[in-house]
Amino acid sequence: MAISQHLLQILARLADGRFHSGTELAESAAISRSAVCKQLQNLDKLGLHYSAISGKGYKLSQPLQLLDEDSIRQALNGNTKALLQRLEIHPCLASTNTYLQHADNAHATACFAEYQTEGRGRRGRQWLSPFGRNIYLSLRYHYQSGPAVIAGLSLAVGVAVIRALNSLNIRDAGLKWPNDIYWQQKKLGGILIEVGGEAEGPCHTVIGLGLNGFLPQPLSQTIDQPCTDLYSIIGDKAFSLRNRLAAELLNQLVPVLHDFDVTGLSPFIEEWRQHDCLHGKTATLYQGKQQHQGILEGIDEHGQLLLRKSDGKQQIFASGEISFRPSHENTA
Ligand code: ATP
Ligand code: BTN
Repeated sequence: MAISQHLLQILARLADGRFHSGTELAESAAISRSAVCKQLQNLDKLGLHYSAISGKGYKLSQPLQLLDEDSIRQALNGNTKALLQRLEIHPCLASTNTYLQHADNAHATACFAEYQTEGRGRRGRQWLSPFGRNIYLSLRYHYQSGPAVIAGLSLAVGVAVIRALNSLNIRDAGLKWPNDIYWQQKKLGGILIEVGGEAEGPCHTVIGLGLNGFLPQPLSQTIDQPCTDLYSIIGDKAFSLRNRLAAELLNQLVPVLHDFDVTGLSPFIEEWRQHDCLHGKTATLYQGKQQHQGILEGIDEHGQLLLRKSDGKQQIFASGEISFRPSHENTA
């Protein structure tokens, strides 16, 4: 759904999580009180909940920090500012990845959205993208290397995301090969890298990151695997940290994306291993119709996944065609 300027103005008032009268909201958006009521009826569809109490007005169930380009820019360090050519923030996009795929050939563009109507995970799976609480970020980058080298990029991106979380004192997040951010065996975020161009290079990539700040319960219950959000990890602070987190992600991601063309994956391997939250756990890997069971033994120097099978042999899996969930006995 499109998000009107009126609704954005109303949300800017409601963002503090306090009560605001219908009259105040109507004035802030320069519309009538009945038009305010009509606008508020859209909040449910956006994944936002509010209460209305006569005599007090309207109040969001949780405060909201809307993305603010100035705050994000101010928190960027010099290196990131120099490397990043364009920064865009949109109230609503189908998908930030799709948007940047169709962007012109600009190098080093970053794009955030408050809401995605068609957020995507790998293999076309849906990425739930309620309004205003999570991070939906895509970066477009041009590489001299071809898609084969880019295969390891999601691991380097995972390392950058962990660095960004650590810099905000959010510790103990982990990585699940090849593209997930985990917290205590639950999915906190995911990375989607899409590549276009020639097999030998150069190629353009769109690097998408979804990171959950707050997932309202009715929505999180529709996700078919354990998932979590920053609110469950750091409490209310998650609501006031969003712009800083957005900036810190850029501060960590942009240099990593920039360096990757020159260095490839090798400088990130050791750090990835330190955050590998499934090392030593049992798992079933799905490769087309085939299943492989065994114990996860981390990654090799090319970023490929190592699985020790019950016959004692180690098997190596390249990214892309593999999907897996840790076995239930790991969490028992
Ligand atoms: P794999 O990447 O190994 O195939 P995966 O199940 O994590 O595993 P992805 O395509 O990476 O699959 O991610 C999409 C999946 O993530 C969805 O099918 C759903 O289970 C889950 N998901 C969707 N939205 C969210 C969200 N906002 N937060 C956490 N998980 C989500
Ligand atoms: C995954 O775990 O499969 C990856 C999820 C990636 C979601 C992000 S949100 C920003 C960007 N836009 C999308 O449509 N997907 C990615």
